[in-house]
Amino acid sequence: MATKSGGESNLDRILTLEIVRVTERAAVAAARLRGRGDEKEADQVAVDAMRKELNMLPINGRVVIGEGERDEAPMLYIGEEVGTGSGPDVDIALDPLEGTTICAKNLPNSLAVIAVAEKDSLLYAPDVYMEKIAIGPGYPAGTIAIDATPTENIAAVAKAKGVAVSDITACILDRPRHARMIEEVRGTGAAIRLIGDGDVAGIIHTTDPDETGIDIYMGIGGAPEGVLAAAALRCIGGQMQGRLQLNTEDKIARARTMGIKDPLKIYTMDEMASGDVVFAATGVTDGNMLGGVRFTKDAIITHTIVMRSSSLTVREIKARHQDLGKFG
Ligand code: FBP
Repeated sequence: MATKSGGESNLDRILTLEIVRVTERAAVAAARLRGRGDEKEADQVAVDAMRKELNMLPINGRVVIGEGERDEAPMLYIGEEVGTGSGPDVDIALDPLEGTTICAKNLPNSLAVIAVAEKDSLLYAPDVYMEKIAIGPGYPAGTIAIDATPTENIAAVAKAKGVAVSDITACILDRPRHARMIEEVRGTGAAIRLIGDGDVAGIIHTTDPDETGIDIYMGIGGAPEGVLAAAALRCIGGQMQGRLQLNTEDKIARARTMGIKDPLKIYTMDEMASGDVVFAATGVTDGNMLGGVRFTKDAIITHTIVMRSSSLTVREIKARHQDLGKFG
């Protein structure tokens, strides 16, 4: 497989199945705290578990999307080196618990998520908001555009899908900042799935509308989550655009230090995740695509989706773990 750097990549061969352990372990740790109302603790145990498993991978990894800057996140901070150090040089985007509030309330669609990519192929996004729009595979290129109105985007998706606008469902984060967008989408006659949190899942759900009931994602969420979602879509197919919300001098300056020169740039999916990438997500709580972790008398059951961009292979792994000691 040709790589961005022109060499031969063994990223997928080594890692596609290995990274499943990483998200499984984080998901199991977080799942033990489902519904306890403690976002911080659930996140912390997921971080610890993910880091432990990540450090067993035969990679020379660098966290580029992580828990935050070094001074605010003691583990899995941006720039932290992970892995055994003896494998390929890779960049890592991760979120050990995507949807901390969802997990704390035991609501649908919290995930443990990781993307491992060729070095220098992920957008180094600062921890700001990003405006996003995404659809799944099977649409003509250019069906959606971040600068088009919600009405135009929904009409374009309906036309390309061959259905009425009223048959389209848009997923939008339930936030006051989206009030006008929500009103406009309702005005088109399309349905809305309002989510409380978790737009990585929201975007991934566009890739299987028959299963999830979601055709298009739109709105403003976290930029790190945007890069993770773009990495996932690269592996399944789909279209996505993102624009960082760099609305203060301070944010513009911070972004500049991360190599972002144009604060208004619209990033395509391929610009956010450009090289070979492998992506895995394990359900923490039950969701539209992935079941949450189940604890039985003698086993822990996990449900993971893992995929790679070079072949567009998507695997679902339902694992029954009987070596319970491994999970602490
Ligand atoms: P956490 O896992 O950090 O709680 O993030 C959840 C999330 O809903 C993301 O999926 C989304 O991108 C972001 O928060 C939205 O941010 P905000 O809650 O500030 O609107």
